[in-house]
Amino acid sequence: MEYAITITPQAERQVKDTTSIPFGQQPTEHMFIAEYKDGEWHNSRIVPFTNLSMSPFALCLHYGQTVFEGMKAFLMNDGRVNIFRMDKHYDRFTKSLERMCMPVVPKGLFNEAMHQLIQLDSNWIPNDEHGSLYVRPFMIASEDRLGVKISDEYLFMIVCTPAYQYYAKPLKVKVEDKYARAADGGTGFAKCGGNYGGAYYPTKLAKEQGYDQVIWTDSKTHEMIEESGTMNLMFFIDNTLLTPPLSGTILDGITRDSLLTLAKEMGIATDVRPIAHKEIQAALEAGKRVEAFGAGTAAVIAPIETIAIGGKEYNCYTGEDATMYKLQKALYNVRKGMATDTHNWNYII
Ligand SMILES: Cc1ncc(COP(=O)(O)O)c(C=O)c1O
Repeated sequence: MEYAITITPQAERQVKDTTSIPFGQQPTEHMFIAEYKDGEWHNSRIVPFTNLSMSPFALCLHYGQTVFEGMKAFLMNDGRVNIFRMDKHYDRFTKSLERMCMPVVPKGLFNEAMHQLIQLDSNWIPNDEHGSLYVRPFMIASEDRLGVKISDEYLFMIVCTPAYQYYAKPLKVKVEDKYARAADGGTGFAKCGGNYGGAYYPTKLAKEQGYDQVIWTDSKTHEMIEESGTMNLMFFIDNTLLTPPLSGTILDGITRDSLLTLAKEMGIATDVRPIAHKEIQAALEAGKRVEAFGAGTAAVIAPIETIAIGGKEYNCYTGEDATMYKLQKALYNVRKGMATDTHNWNYII
């Protein structure tokens, strides 16, 4: 089914040099917007990027009914544009929306909006080794009613920003043993705004102690490793790629899934199971070579250089021959069209 989207192009379209602009500060020229009212989506349109106007009573401003996605479009080596794993991002968006009692966006509308918007602003996609277009679909509760209730009205929008390397250097992280990001039965698996707001305070404390990020642990025992910031966590120990399972408290990361799939194809052993931080500590204490890294759309792979466990700091391996870089390269090759896309991950415009 095709969806009607009206397009109002920007009068003057000029692409800026965005290389020196920090992540998330430069919108592209257009945005997509659709309104949900009376049980239906209306008025789907692409317009020049602009501010929103809403009532201070709007429900999203008070009770946290907001959901978002973070995905990327790439300029392939042959010049075509590729939206990476659009279907899986759509599925996760849907799961998050259902958890937050928000209306699902019809898949045809989501795909059509992505296609039209990214095509229109494709000249903003950096053609740089670490460059891509970061694409942010999101939904907010827009009904103006100052009361705790499920909203009857919503806005679904998509905005984009050019993106480059997210972290300039390997990370220094600490295993969090007091605060928790998510609990069993909560919203940890959903990409809803509140999960991020709640993570700020412990992360701020960690930053004051000289760390870039915290590694979240389970809320009951603080013994089992979960994820970190906006990334899933992966380790490479004893020739095996290790990562915690999707327990409901961590996000079902698309980078995590892609790397696990590619690792298997590359003949790398993978093990998805609960991981105690004591186990990582024991490996480091024993002098084993331990690779640790975050995996996420924004950062792709963020090598961890220093990890603090139980207040003691350890060094992880980040040498050039590390397996994480081989995985990163394999992912890069698929996205850029330099390796066969055997899983239909690339949606080519
Ligand atoms: C909390 C959290 N965990 C993990 C991830 C990694 O997920 P993905 O690889 O789909 O970007 C993200 C980023 O979206 C995140 O926000």
